Amino acid sequence: MAGLHGGNIKEIAEIYHLSEKSIIDFSANINPLGLSENLLKVLKENTDQILHYPDLRYTELKKEIANYHSLTPENIFLGNGAAEVIYSLANILKSQQLLVLAPTFSEYEDAFAHQKTNIVYFKTKDNDFKVNTTDLMIKIQEEKVDTLCICNPNNPTGTIIEKEEMIKLAKFCQNNQIYLIIDEAFMDFVDEKESLTTELRGNEYLVILRSLTKIFAIPGLRLGYLLTDNSHMMDDLESNAIPWRINCFADMAGRESLKDKQYLAETLSYVEKERLFLESSLTKFTELKLVKSSANFIFFEYLSTVDLQKALIEMNILIRDCSNYKGLDGNYYRIAVRTREENEKLVEALERYFYGKSHS
Ligand SMILES: Cc1ncc(COP(=O)(O)O)c(C=O)c1O
Repeated sequence: MAGLHGGNIKEIAEIYHLSEKSIIDFSANINPLGLSENLLKVLKENTDQILHYPDLRYTELKKEIANYHSLTPENIFLGNGAAEVIYSLANILKSQQLLVLAPTFSEYEDAFAHQKTNIVYFKTKDNDFKVNTTDLMIKIQEEKVDTLCICNPNNPTGTIIEKEEMIKLAKFCQNNQIYLIIDEAFMDFVDEKESLTTELRGNEYLVILRSLTKIFAIPGLRLGYLLTDNSHMMDDLESNAIPWRINCFADMAGRESLKDKQYLAETLSYVEKERLFLESSLTKFTELKLVKSSANFIFFEYLSTVDLQKALIEMNILIRDCSNYKGLDGNYYRIAVRTREENEKLVEALERYFYGKSHS
């Protein structure tokens, strides 16, 4: 567990003496369409499952995930959210030298630091938060890195490394016996074609992490998984894992949701439309410097020293203050793409903040 994450709405409500319900949460990157009707129905109709232990092998769930990625159930290790999988992986890899991007999702450095792994950072700020893979490979060799983690798309920046570049990186890591962990927690919001799951077969050094909590709006239920074609790694993960760690509702949610192609397609087009709406609305505030995003959230610098999170929470809007990310020395924030109504409220709040009144 590490510092602050987004979605800490209870804590923020307490600090600012607000009711939780009055806050619009732009700080956690969850599907704005919310729970699908199909999933809600299945969960409601199966409350009697609480009375039973889940299937210890999670056969059906693994089959569904395998279908989704055109892999086999033997390639899948499940976790109570991707966060748990990160800790399980750090525990068995026992890496000496891990390289992560800066800024990026902090649980990698925390999970590996618990195992006494040394952490090396590859800063992206001076390159508009894009990753130059040639420079990255040089750094990997200079620092004698044995494990590399890339979140693609990256959190908090929303930037993506294109598939062609990722394939080059995967080959480089395989040739040099370096573990490459690709965290694709937000890939479902982009395009499955960008995923490196197609490159897993035969590459024992490639590991891909996925999360279903964001795309299916189930952060309270929690489900994530790891994909690998390394059977020794899989044996190690399974033999160290806690039995029944996926509860019956998360198991059901995974099985039902991955089949729901319509909900997935609707999400993609909705998020794309709303991201474009937000990007075009926010660019008119000249004090905000936006980073081009490929994901369901937008990262920007506020060219001022004023605390924008504090200013907006006074208008019942919660955004993610990014000051606790490594590699950022400015005033940075991240906002999730929400529904049109909520996105308009955010734009109105910014208008009030910057211009002192609401513009129509
Ligand atoms: C890049 C990345 N990976 C993994 C996670 C954890 O996902 P989960 O909710 O499935 O544990 C997050 C959560 O924000 C994330 O941003």
